[in-house]
Amino acid sequence: MNKKKVSKNMDGFVLGDIKIFPPVCSAPMAGYSNQATRVLYSKFSCPLNVTEMVSAKALIKKNKRTWDYISKSEQESLLWVQLFGGDPLELQEAVQLVQKEINISAIDLNLGCPVKKISKNLAGAQLMKSPEQVYKIIVSMTDGASVPITVKMRSGIDNEKNQALEIALACEEAGASLITIHPRSKEQKFTGSANWEIIKQLKEVLTIPLIGNGDVFTLRDYIEMVESTSCDGVMIGRGALGNPWIFQEIYNYHMKSVKFEKKAFAKIALEYFELELRYSKYVKNEYLRVRKSIHHYFKNSSNYFEIKENLQSASSNDELIKKLKGFILE
Ligand SMILES: Cc1cc2nc3c(=O)[nH]c(=O)nc-3n(C[C@H](O)[C@H](O)[C@H](O)COP(=O)(O)O)c2cc1C
Repeated sequence: MNKKKVSKNMDGFVLGDIKIFPPVCSAPMAGYSNQATRVLYSKFSCPLNVTEMVSAKALIKKNKRTWDYISKSEQESLLWVQLFGGDPLELQEAVQLVQKEINISAIDLNLGCPVKKISKNLAGAQLMKSPEQVYKIIVSMTDGASVPITVKMRSGIDNEKNQALEIALACEEAGASLITIHPRSKEQKFTGSANWEIIKQLKEVLTIPLIGNGDVFTLRDYIEMVESTSCDGVMIGRGALGNPWIFQEIYNYHMKSVKFEKKAFAKIALEYFELELRYSKYVKNEYLRVRKSIHHYFKNSSNYFEIKENLQSASSNDELIKKLKGFILE
């Protein structure tokens, strides 16, 4: 297992100006991603949850049930609302209503739903037929949006043509902040397996963050997806049904890895020393006291004794700060 690739993602992925850590979220799932499920996943350290897809038209018509699907509980972590629709102006209006009414972190456009009821109105995965229309929709949704606008897509309409790259680039150019790819075609629905190779191909080209999705059922699958595709984050749907522990396992996995990184220790140690300087009454020679104890922050490092000796040799506050900053930059 190549640990380096996973640690590249240690800090989480960026959604607008929010850092999502660990780099994982729950998937939108009609009939499942309600408030109760989202609160439960949050308790198991899932940092971000997507609502099930809701109709832009129904939101505008003030359909109570639709608004209930996306209302946010105090107890849930960050919320990402997913909309479906095909009309650029309608979607723009829905974005503006939702961002005004609910404390959300982002709004997603559904380009993945394969069901007929949605496709017949040129929405969901059917929109992948027309990159021009997708472009127009994203331009319209981002116009006046105060939260990031994102897209969740499939690999294309049928198995013959991989349209992922064309659509993803159109979305990026139109102003989307992040893309999630479930690499199965519309025709495939949920059969066969997700083609993670497509995630890798997109990651090589896109500049905005890319979330991989599809067939992650265990911590090992999660690690494998990150390693084999270099995606910025992972979205989990069926793997979390009845199994919220998967988010906790991922969180624990990351915390354990962070725990053994000298860089991470140094960040906390520096923060601690800066707090000492802020609150201490004897600031001038604070290093004299702190240099005797600050090594405790590094006690899980493999080269602990070397670090301890190094820090104890600091001869001023500035030098202690310089040493800690040096560890962070190493
Ligand atoms: C019952 C069910 C409902 C779903 N509802 C949505 C939805 O509302 N919006 C969406 O973008 N994808 C929806 N999906 C697709 C999932 O978000 C996800 O892309 C897919 O299940 C693959 O991920 P997984 O292997 O982690 O489950 C749904 C999937 C299932 C099985």
